[in-house]
Amino acid sequence: MSNTKKTSQGNRVGIGIVGAGARGIGNLGKWICSEYRKHRLRIAAICDNHDLRLKDAEKFLKSQFKYNGISDKFKTYNQMEDLITDSDVELVMITTPQSVHEKPFKIAAEAGKMIYCEKPLAHSQKACDNMLKIFRKNKPRCFIGFTRRYEPLWVRAHKMVSEGAVGQPHMVLLRSIIPYSFYFAGWWRQTTWSGGLLNEKCAHHFDTLNWFTGSYPVRVQAIGGRRVFVPREGYPSRCSECDDLSCPYRIGKEFLEYRVADNVPPLRLSYDYDVDLPMSHELCVYSPQADVIDHAIVNLNFANGMVGCLFFSVFGQHSDDQETLEIIGEEGKLVLSRHALTIEVIGKFGKEKALHKYEGQAVSLGHFGADPVMINLLSKFSLTGQEPPVGFKDAYIASKTAFMAEQSLVDGTTKNLDYSLLRASNKKKNLSNDSGTF
Ligand SMILES: NC(=O)c1ccc[n+]([C@@H]2O[C@H](COP(=O)([O-])OP(=O)(O)OC[C@H]3O[C@@H](n4cnc5c(N)ncnc54)[C@H](O)[C@@H]3O)[C@@H](O)[C@H]2O)c1
Repeated sequence: MSNTKKTSQGNRVGIGIVGAGARGIGNLGKWICSEYRKHRLRIAAICDNHDLRLKDAEKFLKSQFKYNGISDKFKTYNQMEDLITDSDVELVMITTPQSVHEKPFKIAAEAGKMIYCEKPLAHSQKACDNMLKIFRKNKPRCFIGFTRRYEPLWVRAHKMVSEGAVGQPHMVLLRSIIPYSFYFAGWWRQTTWSGGLLNEKCAHHFDTLNWFTGSYPVRVQAIGGRRVFVPREGYPSRCSECDDLSCPYRIGKEFLEYRVADNVPPLRLSYDYDVDLPMSHELCVYSPQADVIDHAIVNLNFANGMVGCLFFSVFGQHSDDQETLEIIGEEGKLVLSRHALTIEVIGKFGKEKALHKYEGQAVSLGHFGADPVMINLLSKFSLTGQEPPVGFKDAYIASKTAFMAEQSLVDGTTKNLDYSLLRASNKKKNLSNDSGTF
């Protein structure tokens, strides 16, 4: 590989993970370890400003290194500035909550580091606009963690549509019915931290709609709100203090005991900013502290004339993470079912019918198989200059759509999306390392 970048140690790219939580260490750290023989990345350092979390993460990661026979050493930091400016760190992985994306993004971009940034881009339009200015000025190479873009099933469906399986596509429907009441317990529950659930969760969906339509939304209209996880009088703030044993959202005994089980660091549990106890998952889902929605229907007009709809709910059954995508074209339709791992295609006006079943992918394989694929692409991206499948501009558009949909939901009016800031930066040709069709 003649264009392969020389890296500072053992020909592997040094990664610094900022935000040593569920995503940074529990998912990505773990996958970097288990895929270690296939890629050329290494974890050089991790950072968390929460001492207990940093210790848990260090312990967890060391156990992953041992399990996978990895002899690398990594450093631990409390301050993100120290990690990012460490010369051993070539790629900064931003896995803090999105209200803390802008700061590491700025420091990393100004230090000339490559960036992996988790979705959603940020928690507010202002933070996204600030990041766009930083991106324009410093031109960092940037890779975004929208997992559908890396999931084998979705990649296959996208290829089928691009190759004309349904003829010219016109309509797209994404249905996401997810049993994630924990959004009303952890930091996601407040807009100031997450930017709302249409940003936190549905940035994935908006990006997927853009990817499949090959376009971007110009108008958005939303209805919805909060119907189930509404504040309840007289409920204590924690499951452990609550007498309602019949509550379907009650956190089980095994979660409450994680903190005392020394051999199992509680990486699945989110630390919080405003409570002493780190186990914010235990907060009551009916707490008045939450201000996010629990369901929405969002209609979209795309720049290329296509129309789309997102149907989203986080309450209801305890079941799989259910997502379906339907694309209706001039000659047929395609239905992807994420949890059933199927793609059903009806093409050529009904003359062609097929049901594709994909074996071997599961949630346990990291976002339905996306995480290991993504880690290997990230390795190529950082070593060879290969473009990311999804970049900064895509993340900016997805969050902008989410914020405008939230506004529409509140005031009941249809919103036109204004991309003037993005267009200004495009004119200067400094979004060149980005993917997409804006
Ligand atoms: N791509 C995906 O499918 C996917 C999946 C899960 C989460 N995410 C995203 O990953 C990000 C993190 O989510 P999570 O579930 O891991 O949350 P988390 O709460 O488990 O972890 C975040 C960590 O960041 C730390 N942190 C907060 N402020 C910090 C600061 N100033 N300096 C250093 N560390 C700081 C916290 O202490 C915590 O340990 C979010 O943006 C989330 O939306 C993406």
